[in-house]
Formats: sequence, C-alpha cells, structure tokens
Amino acid sequence: LNYNVKRERSYILQVLFNGLRRLEYRGYDSAGIAIDSPSRPQCSSDSDLTSSPPLVFRQEGNIESLVKSVYQEVGETELNLEECFSTHAGIAHTRWATHGEPAQRNSHPQTSGPANEFMVVHNGVITNYEVLKATLLRHGFIFESETDTEVIPKLAKFVYDKATEAAGGQVVTFSQVVLEVMRHLEGAYALIFKSVHYPNELIACKRGSPLLLGVKELTENKDNGSAFEENKFLSKDGKPKELFLSSDANAVVEHTKKVLVIEDGEVVHLKDGGVSILKYENDMGELGASLSRTSSVRRALSVLEMEVEQINKGHYEHYMQKEIHEQPESLTTTMRGRLIRRGSSKSKSVLLGGLKDHLKTIRRSRRIVFIGCGTSYNAALAARPILEELSGVPVTMEIASDLLDREGPIYREDTAVFVSQSGETADTLLALQYALDNGALCVGITNTVGSAIARNTHCGVHINAGAEIGVASTKAYTSQIVVMAMLALAIGGDTISNQARREAIVDGLYDLPNKVREVLELDQEMKDLANLLIAEQSLLVFGRGYNYATALEGALKVKEVALMHSEGILAGEMKHGPLALVDENLPIVVIATHDACFSKQQSVIQQLHARRGRLIVMCSKGDAASVCPGESCRAIEVPQVVDCLQPVINVVPLQLLAYHLTVLRGFNVDQPRNLAKSVTTQ
Ligand code: G6P
Repeated sequence: LNYNVKRERSYILQVLFNGLRRLEYRGYDSAGIAIDSPSRPQCSSDSDLTSSPPLVFRQEGNIESLVKSVYQEVGETELNLEECFSTHAGIAHTRWATHGEPAQRNSHPQTSGPANEFMVVHNGVITNYEVLKATLLRHGFIFESETDTEVIPKLAKFVYDKATEAAGGQVVTFSQVVLEVMRHLEGAYALIFKSVHYPNELIACKRGSPLLLGVKELTENKDNGSAFEENKFLSKDGKPKELFLSSDANAVVEHTKKVLVIEDGEVVHLKDGGVSILKYENDMGELGASLSRTSSVRRALSVLEMEVEQINKGHYEHYMQKEIHEQPESLTTTMRGRLIRRGSSKSKSVLLGGLKDHLKTIRRSRRIVFIGCGTSYNAALAARPILEELSGVPVTMEIASDLLDREGPIYREDTAVFVSQSGETADTLLALQYALDNGALCVGITNTVGSAIARNTHCGVHINAGAEIGVASTKAYTSQIVVMAMLALAIGGDTISNQARREAIVDGLYDLPNKVREVLELDQEMKDLANLLIAEQSLLVFGRGYNYATALEGALKVKEVALMHSEGILAGEMKHGPLALVDENLPIVVIATHDACFSKQQSVIQQLHARRGRLIVMCSKGDAASVCPGESCRAIEVPQVVDCLQPVINVVPLQLLAYHLTVLRGFNVDQPRNLAKSVTTQ
C-alpha cells in the first residue's frame, strides 16, 4: 500500500482484516497478521524499520477474534501506522488446519524465530517438511508449531544468514533468498514473505496453489492494451498505488478489478509500492546462480468480471440462503447467449464457444470420464444419463482422489471432464495432471475464470453462476448440471430421430429459471419440515436414475451444514442392505417425481410403507394423493420439468431443508464445522 495520499488511521489493518473476512469461507479456525511496528519513537523515516521488528498477531478462532485481540493488545490509537510509513506492506492469513490443530502457535504468519526476521503466510502443504525440519534442527533452530509451514521462514533465515556471511556481510536481495528457499520446497504452495531485513517489501511465489496480484491505479500501456509492464510500476510517476496479493479474487475485488493470475514458478516482488515478477527456472544451481536462471515476466492484466455486490449477503442472513434463492438468476446467467431457438420449424440447439473446436474429438472419444469431488461430482452424476443418451459415448464417473489412489486407467482416446466450482481443488487438479500425462483430451467445467483448472485444461465451459461464498455449494451445483446438459446437447448429433427430445430439453432450459422460482416457494414448507426433524439423529434420502445424484447431494447438504448424519441411497439397492435400517422412527425422503423410474419408485415407497417407514415423498405437483401411502406420509410437491433437468428442481427443497435445519439447530450455516470451501491441499 502506498500512502502518498492521506489515509484514515490504521488503513492497512482495515484492508487486511476486510481481506481476511472475504476469505474466511476458505478456512476459519485461526488467523494472523504481520505489520510493521509503529512503536519506534521517530517513525518518519522508513529506514528505521530494521531497528523495530514487525508486529505479529495470531489468534485461534475466527477473524473477529483476531481483530479483537489486535486492538486489545495494541490499542487503536497506537496503531497510527500511516503517520509512520509512506509505504507499508502487511500480510494476513486465515487458516484451515491440515498439519497441527487449530491453535495460536500453529496460526500464520509462521516466523523464523522470536525476532520475527522472516514471516510467511502459506496456502498449501509442504510435503518434504520433515526432512527440512531435521536439517534446520541440526542447525540449532527451535520449532514451536506442528505446522509444515514453519520450516519456510526458518529456512529463509538460514539462507539469509549463510548468503550474507558468504557475501562478506553484504546484504543479498529478498528475491535471492526466496528463490533459494523455493529450490528446497516440495509440495504445493502459495507463499507471501515479509522480513525485517527488507522493509516495505513483500515477496510472493507459488506452485500448485492459487495466487493473484491485484493492481489499483494501473498506468495503461497504450501500445498493448492493459499489458502489465513492470517498469511502469517501478517508474516514479508519483501516483498512489495499492498492490494486493491474494489466493482469491474475493479479497481484491472491492479494491480493483485489474488482476494478474500468477503462474507456477513465478516470484512477485513488491518493493516501495512497485512490482516486478521473475520466473523461477526449475533446475537452478546454487545460490548466486539463481538470478541468472530467472527471466522477467510481462503479461496482460485481466479484468475480474465479478461485482462486489456478489460477495455481499444483501438482505439475506446467510450466504447459503442468498445463494439458494438467487438460483433463478444464476441459472439465467449460466445459459445466457448459449441457447439457440431458430424458429419452430428448425432445430433448437446450444452454443458452447469454449468447446466448439473440440466437439468432433469428444464425439469420437472412446469414453467420457467425469472427474470431481463433493458436490461437483454429484452434479456430474446427475448429468451422466443425458450425456450417455445424447452422445452415445460411454460415460464413467471418477472421484478425483479415488482415481489417483487407484491410478485408474485413462487413455489418449478418452475425454476427461473436470468439474469444479473453485477450479482449484487439489485432488481434482492432480487428477487433471494425471489425465494430461496420459494424453486424454481434458475439458474443464468451472465457476472461476482464471482458475488452475480453467487454465490447464484444453478447453471448457465456465458455469457463470457468480461468486459462491457459502461453504455448502448450492447455486454452483444447479448451474453445473445445466452446463453439462448443454454439453450433452452440444456433443449429441442433431439427427431427425432425436430432434423432439433435443427441443424438449432446450425448451426446458428456457423455462427452468421460472420453475426454480416456483419451487423456491416451498421455503416455509421446508422450514416446517425442518422443525419436525430438528432433533433427529439421521435422515435417509432415496433416489434413482436422474435423481440418484439428488439423493446424494441432498444428503450431503444435510450432513455438511446441519451436522446431522444423512445418507443418499440408490433406491435400487434398498433391498440389499438399507432396508435393515427402516423403522417407524427414522425419517426417509423418497424422490419419486415423474420419469422413467417412477413406477419403480412407487414400488419402493410401498415396500418402505409395509415396513412402517417414516416417509417424506418428493413427487410431481398433483401426485401427492396417489403417491403417498397412509396419513403419516408427508409430501413435497415440486414442479415437473423434462426428466434430465428435474434434478435441478428436486435439489432445491433439500437445500432449503438443510439450510433451515442448520439454523434451527443453531449451527453456523456458512462456515460448517471442520470444512472449507476450496480444498487446495490434498
Ligand atoms: C469442498 C467443499 C465442497 C465442494 C468440494 C469440491 O469439499 O466443501 O462444497 O463440493 O470441495 O469443490 P470444487 O471447488 O472442486 O467444486
């Protein structure tokens, strides 16, 4: 941050705290911050910084606990930072524990030692940290945390001391230190370094984990659109600039929409309000050789398409609630410009620009493999039948981690479709690398423009559902299904025999937002149902065909946020085990809307009823009386749409049920226990 302009008190703290609040959905068990110390007597010259070590605050719990502790410890008036610095560089972190329990000592920034010479915030996992730790222990370093991250600042200090000694006391550059540290790190990381030896400087680097640079007050390069040119930033144009480094655009968008997505191996150096970027070459030699093996980077800035309003709750109490209710709009945006109706006599179709050059290859592939995790996997499962039907290509399903565990076969002739809301899920990304290595055509379906999956696949489709903040995915799920239904239409041939079917689907897509609006009217009914189920231990959801995925996804929502055991069950498997659980107490949702499986589901309902099952039946509007056996059976009537889009409708009441159950049970809707939205570590 540059303070050529007068700022209100503690501006840097506000920026860092607000940034953390925007990122809290990615992890919320502890948080920390490092800023330069304002406590030295004369703070008019930045060169004094080295004599006064930076302040590091770390706190178990959420961001607000950190905010409270910072102000309690230091007192707001003492944090009159802007009077001390003309440029100020701070770092902050909110954590989702992987190595080491949520505790103050395990929070970031992790430091090189009590003097805070080097401080690091880290997103990712260092896989060789034990080896590095053993070496550093031998050199006398004392470790305080159980984190993998702690080796990084300690290694930085080790490298710094050695290099300074070798250079006869001459100080090496911050970049040299970080490049040398990177050379020793294995695993995935996005890192930001701060050091007392390099006041007003930050260094960020990444491998595997996401990182972007936000630039406010860009000097435009007229020859090259908005091309990023490092010298412009370094020029002393006297214009105030604010530079942001973040693992997520959400923390940046309220300041600037101009961003640079940082690539693996790049090292971003912020110094005195300017920025330069180096590319790290993998096979660097010893320190000193480092700089000659790097090249400087120039790339065009991209413009974020998101709006700040998207990441606010609006008039809703929770993000999950907002995101459930905005599905008519998010679905409209997903389909915008992609549906084609060429008049009643001609065929109706879809246009997916990101795939047009690859459709032939996909049609000719030996099979289509869907790969994803959690909700994204469920969305792909919901779309599988329509893809099989329209494309005629066999479609198989892979949970990313399981594919990697088995090293399952992926062939050159395969099309591998990677489905991920964030586009950054570590398991999915590793599976992508695996599929690329095996020569498959890789297609990405993601909600995040510029994400690793969007960048590293051969082609793909953005779902354009808008920012999703609630940890439990809702609107991204329905948009993913719609994109995959459109994918099925795009791949499937436009033959006479399937024309009526295709038209029915396109018409269904057009009308879908209205039908979702209609099903959202069940909100109060779902709240009433939640009230009835509030004290239950468990909930089963039975589905089949198109709605097997709905059963899995509905149960996942209840499990994730309401912290109630819930299981999605393939109804065809009922007799092969689950029936043993059925009694008059356990609530069971059976999805029995009209489609080819309807009569089979009616039979399932009868069998559950015969065993005195406590039934809640989801059925098509007008069917309640005929589908529900007995007085005790409760019906959820939903609008009927074309079968392959019915999962979009059917999941909504279950999302609402999970939401209300959570609120009524008194749990945190948007930040469910132990979970994080983007799991960027394995
Ligand atoms: C995490 C989230 C889930 C999400 C899954 C896959 O587990 O908590 O809500 O479905 O990751 O995330 P992705 O971003 O790849 O869709």
